[in-house]
Amino acid sequence: MIEGDGIGVEISEAVKDIYKAAKVPIDWELADVTPIFVDGKTSIPPEAIESINKNKVALKGPLATPVGKGHVSLNLTLRRTFNLFANVRPCKSVVGFQTPYEDVDTVLIRENTEGEYSGIEHVVVPGVVQSIKLITRAASERVARYAFEYARSIGKKKVLVVHKATVMKYGDGLFLESAQKIAKEFPDIEIHTELIDRTCLNMVTNPAPYKEYVMVMPNLYGDIMSDLSSGLIGGLGLTPSGNMGDEVSIFEAVHGSAPDIAGKGLANPTALLLSSVMMLRHMGLNDEAARIEKAVLDTIASGKENITRDLKGTASTKHFTEQVISRL
Ligand SMILES: NC(=O)c1ccc[n+]([C@@H]2O[C@H](COP(=O)([O-])OP(=O)(O)OC[C@H]3O[C@@H](n4cnc5c(N)ncnc54)[C@H](O)[C@@H]3O)[C@@H](O)[C@H]2O)c1
Repeated sequence: MIEGDGIGVEISEAVKDIYKAAKVPIDWELADVTPIFVDGKTSIPPEAIESINKNKVALKGPLATPVGKGHVSLNLTLRRTFNLFANVRPCKSVVGFQTPYEDVDTVLIRENTEGEYSGIEHVVVPGVVQSIKLITRAASERVARYAFEYARSIGKKKVLVVHKATVMKYGDGLFLESAQKIAKEFPDIEIHTELIDRTCLNMVTNPAPYKEYVMVMPNLYGDIMSDLSSGLIGGLGLTPSGNMGDEVSIFEAVHGSAPDIAGKGLANPTALLLSSVMMLRHMGLNDEAARIEKAVLDTIASGKENITRDLKGTASTKHFTEQVISRL
C-alpha cells in the first residue's frame, strides 16, 4: 500500500479498517514513494521498488506533484518504472448519486506508455515547437490484446477502438491496424472502430449503448475520455482505476490529494475502495470484492447522512467507514 499524500492517509485508513472488518486475507506492506533524485531524475526509492516488485500488486492513494520545473510527475514515474502499459477505468452509475444519466456502464482502456506522453518535444526555431506522438506496433498490439482479454474476462463481446486515423494516418493508423490484427486472435469478440470526436458526441448524448463495449485508445485520448466517463457518473471521487503491467499492477483512486480538505476527516474513500475492489478481483478474491463493493454502494444509496460532502452529503470519513462496515 502506498498511502499517498494529503487525504491519502485518511482514505487508506478507511480501506484498512473495512478490510479488517471483512476479514480479507491481505497483510498490508506500506511503501513510501517519496521521490529521490538520481542523476537529476525523479526516482522511486529502491525499498519501494523492491516491495512492489515482490508483492506484484499495489494499492495507491493520491500523490501530490510539486508545481515547478524539474519534477517529473511521480505517477508517470511509477508507470514507467513498472511498465504499467494499460490503464483500466470502469465507470458505472452509482445508485443514490443522481447524474443526468442513470445507466452508465463503460470500461475504457488507455494505452499508458507512449503516444503524446512520450515527452519528445523540441524547439525547431524560436516560436516553432515540434511535439512528437510516438506510436509503436509493439505497444499498440500489447494494449489491444489486453483489451480483448479484459473484454473476455468480464463477459463483454465487443471491443471498440477509438482513434483519429482519418487525420493521423500513420500514428493512429498503426494503432488501429495493430488492434485489427490482434482481433483475429479473439474470434469470440467483435472489433468495432469509431472516430474519437464521434465517441465524445455520442457518449455525452447517450452513454447507454457503450455498455456493450470495452473501449481501447491511445494515451491522450484515453486520458481525456476517461475523465469524460467519470463525469457521467458523478466525478473522480467515485471512479476507480487500475494500471496494469505484465508483472506488476497498481490500483489507484484517480482523484488528487485534495489539500483543501486533508486532515479534516471529510475525504470520501469510495474511489480508493472501489479501486481496491478491482485489485481484489485481479487477485481472484471475488467473494471479498463483491461483499465490499455491495457494502460501499449500499451505503451511498442509503441517504445523505451517510455520504460525504463531495457527494452532497453530511458524513465524515469515519462515519462513512462505519456505515460500510455495518453493511458487510
Ligand atoms: N493520481 C494522483 O495521484 C493524482 C491525480 C490528480 C492530482 N494529483 C495531485 O493532487 C494534488 C491536488 O490536485 P487538485 O487539487 O488539482 O485535485 P484533487 O483531486 O486533489 O482535488 C480537486 C477537488 O476535489 C476534491 N476531492 C478530491 N478527492 C476527494 C475525495 N476523495 N473526497 C472528497 N473530496 C475530494 C478536493 O477537495 C478538491 O476540492 C496536486 O499535487 C496534484 O498533482 C494526484
